[in-house]
Amino acid sequence: MQLELKQQPLTEIEAELLVTFLTPDLLETHPHKEVLSRAGFKAESDSICALHAHSLVVVGIDNFEADTIRSATATMIKAIKAYSYKSAKLFQYNQENTFALVEGILLGEYSFNDYKSDPKKSELKNIYLSNDNFNAEELDQKRLLEDYNSALVIAKATNFTRDLVNTIPNDMTPQALAVVARDLADENNLECTILDEHALEQENMNAMLAVGRASVHKPRLIHLTYKPHNPQFTLSLVGKGLTYDSGGMSLKPATSMVTMKMDKAGACAVLGMMKAVSELKLPIEVHGLIGAAENMVNGNAYKPDDVLTSKNGKTIEVRNTDAEGRLVLADVLTYTQEKIKSDYIFDFATLTGACMVALGQYTTGVMGHSHRLKHQFFQASVDSGELVASLPFNRHLKKLIKSEIADICNVASKPYGGAITAALFLESFIDENMKDKWLHFDIAGSAYSESSWDCNNYGATGAGVRLTIEWMRQQLNEPTN
Ligand code: BES
Ligand code: ZN
Ligand code: ZN
Repeated sequence: MQLELKQQPLTEIEAELLVTFLTPDLLETHPHKEVLSRAGFKAESDSICALHAHSLVVVGIDNFEADTIRSATATMIKAIKAYSYKSAKLFQYNQENTFALVEGILLGEYSFNDYKSDPKKSELKNIYLSNDNFNAEELDQKRLLEDYNSALVIAKATNFTRDLVNTIPNDMTPQALAVVARDLADENNLECTILDEHALEQENMNAMLAVGRASVHKPRLIHLTYKPHNPQFTLSLVGKGLTYDSGGMSLKPATSMVTMKMDKAGACAVLGMMKAVSELKLPIEVHGLIGAAENMVNGNAYKPDDVLTSKNGKTIEVRNTDAEGRLVLADVLTYTQEKIKSDYIFDFATLTGACMVALGQYTTGVMGHSHRLKHQFFQASVDSGELVASLPFNRHLKKLIKSEIADICNVASKPYGGAITAALFLESFIDENMKDKWLHFDIAGSAYSESSWDCNNYGATGAGVRLTIEWMRQQLNEPTN
């Protein structure tokens, strides 16, 4: 499917289908009000009605806010994909909605068919957006075009992330992820360094190596760099890249293991962000660092009771091999702080089931010391449409990861607050001078879903990409930064 922004009034655009959004108020004055009400259409949020005789599809909305438009557009696109129209056209719905329309279309239309021998094909080939506003209000055309182009880049990067996460563990091994990163680097002019298991040994990344030791697919550290000419600041993005998480010796129950190909979603989000930031040419130096490993079982597997010496010398008592993401991230965070002078470090990880228990499936948990940074992300959340909520640290929870025999334990001694204790484990690997510059994003719930919601369909959502790119764009608009 091809999306195009036409520099033409809607009436002049040739398309087989017209799509219109209607609030209950607008429905009152609609020329087809009678027939729409006979069809039971009340312009309720996300309801949809097709008047095929008029080549018209109407979509109900409560208001013209971006969130509403994004999700209604996604609902609409899923519905009209099933019809046999070849083309459709739609208006703008005010200056702020361009992002929502483009994202609704591209993200709503997404499906992952790599493993289907005969995937359902849609007849829909072209979608045209008009630069006309629905109520003939003048729009700033320069801004419209800029927003359209940026939204396209960001939505495509999100779908790129989704594709990677959805790819099965047998195909997307740590090595394969490294190849994807190298290809992205070649295409987008990024620097790329890959550390194989021998290089990881040289770097003393023993915690990460232990996690990957029982797999035939050995771990990789991936480091991509985007260096524009005059960067305003330096940002490091760290991703958990467990290409499969069986739990290791602390083996997951069979039903919990299904979907664990998504344990690389943090890494894939980082790759999506590197793609977007380089295509948007943002003046920020961005490093993407990925710890890729597979958590498996064999005679050489790391075990509960082991003590690992991490890259920064801290010893870790392993009490549960399923709490592996924090071990990988500990070493990658140390590596990041050793090699890069960052103004900010953000890590993204499908780290804990506890985060889903705390916040539900749709919300990313944000943790860190800096209220200022968290506040900025709340704003980015509102403007990107990704949901976030903060989970607060406290010193009592911190005590729960003390170990009797090593410097720290990889699981807490009590079962509550697991998302926070996992983040506090990571926090203990953040240098004193970086404590206020680091945030952790737990995307365990938000990265993957087996049912569709908002502009997401079955499978990976690309969580983190839209949010973080929006944060970057907002920093560049802030004169104080
Ligand atoms: N990858 C999982 C977390 C996860 C669970 C992500 C469900 C998405 C959906 C992580 O490695 C893990 O297994 N965490 C354990 C930690 C526990 C052993 C302290 C968990 O959440 O149960
Ligand atoms: Zn695990
Ligand atoms: Zn995991």
